[in-house]
Amino acid sequence: MSTDNGNKKELLWQSRFSEPFDREALLFSSSVDVDKILYQEDIKGSIAHVTMLSEEAILPVEEARMIIEGLEDIEQEIASGALVPDWEEEDIHTVIENRLKEKIGPLAGKMHSGRSRNDQVATDTRLYLKRIINELSNELEALKQLLVEKAESYRHTVIFGYTHLQRAQPISAGHYYLAYFNMFKRDSERLEDLLKRVDISPLGAAAFAGSTLPLNAKRSRELLGFGALFHNSIDAVSDRDIIIEFLSACSVIMMHLSRFCEDIILWSSTEFNYLEISDAFSTGSSIMPQKKNADIAELVRGKTGRVYGDLVAVLTMMKGLPLSYNRDMQEDKPPLFDASKATVSSVRIFTKMLAHTKLNEERVAMLTAEDLSLATEIAEYLVRKDLPFREAHRITGSIVSHAITSGTPLPSIPLETYKGFSGLFENDIYDALKPEASVNAKRSHGGTSFASVDEQIRVAKEMMRDR
Ligand code: ARG
Repeated sequence: MSTDNGNKKELLWQSRFSEPFDREALLFSSSVDVDKILYQEDIKGSIAHVTMLSEEAILPVEEARMIIEGLEDIEQEIASGALVPDWEEEDIHTVIENRLKEKIGPLAGKMHSGRSRNDQVATDTRLYLKRIINELSNELEALKQLLVEKAESYRHTVIFGYTHLQRAQPISAGHYYLAYFNMFKRDSERLEDLLKRVDISPLGAAAFAGSTLPLNAKRSRELLGFGALFHNSIDAVSDRDIIIEFLSACSVIMMHLSRFCEDIILWSSTEFNYLEISDAFSTGSSIMPQKKNADIAELVRGKTGRVYGDLVAVLTMMKGLPLSYNRDMQEDKPPLFDASKATVSSVRIFTKMLAHTKLNEERVAMLTAEDLSLATEIAEYLVRKDLPFREAHRITGSIVSHAITSGTPLPSIPLETYKGFSGLFENDIYDALKPEASVNAKRSHGGTSFASVDEQIRVAKEMMRDR
């Protein structure tokens, strides 16, 4: 089979070979379509490197100036669409270098002194991660802020709390929203912690073993605004832990969002009818005119699987790689960018949708007032009257069974009947059977009483301030 060697542009390493690279092989190996996202980071990294080279007298100041000006022009060209990165080059680093050559001639080649695409791409990736972590953290802040507001406005609204998706006990809706606040708080902490390991400059590691040129890696680090510098050049070019950590943090965020979405989808159904998503965030059906679907929540839930897949893709890609750099690692980028986009956009749209969702307070109040989920109150009432819990549980079970067979809500069962189950019942049983009283009696630490929820709101606000 013959090779197709009609390549338009020269590849960076072509001179060693007697035959041009096959076009189909180039199409297969090019990452331009994916890594063009990194053009700003790539140019920033090159400018820092060239600045360092000139400060160390590895490159004459005038030449460095020409290279830097050329790079700044190229950044404009790509931003404006005048230069469209083309797959017929290997990667974004090559696109930029070749364009620079067109602009300033062979001098462009000096930009790469003491550098390899291995430390270059590691640098770009870390700069990108810093940018995206910052963006994602800001989106999470907005979501947490909204959750505190929701908790505040619904702190005196009593809703059902569920276990096993069965009505379990009445709780403050504020308590419910704060549970999600706590999850997203941990997500923010995870990102913040991860940032410490992302904020390390790998520039100066060169291909993997270092360079014979008198590079000043500390200065490059400083110019790029990284907090710390790599310790081992082999590790600097071959480590992808930070991507894996970021993708796991994204996976956990998506898992939290997905659970929240599941609640919202269920609760907005006609059967539950606990909440209403505004029309602006609902979709209709092309065939069933009555339908109002929670597509945004469903899509966020759906994207969760993708993000898990991205994590597993990188973990699997890395597991068999010998040290140090291997081209397999180029495959880290599609999952990284895919998960970044999915997670940032999910948190963002979810927050917007949640802001336009309201609880159907009247309906939940009506339902909770009549519900069997107050049964635990009866058991605890008897415990307060000194009955062992097991016995109290047994008696309450019989009362629940009576309520079901007679079709009488617990608060409507007459005192005489209660007394028939246990002589310990007095008129105050009806106080215990008010959902609000039930909620307010749960004063234990972190519990659902209004006072405890107020305290949790106070702590949440403090956490937001301390950020
Ligand atoms: N596009 C490559 C990547 O993302 C850049 C590094 C190429 N290095 C090499 N030795 N071929 O990994």
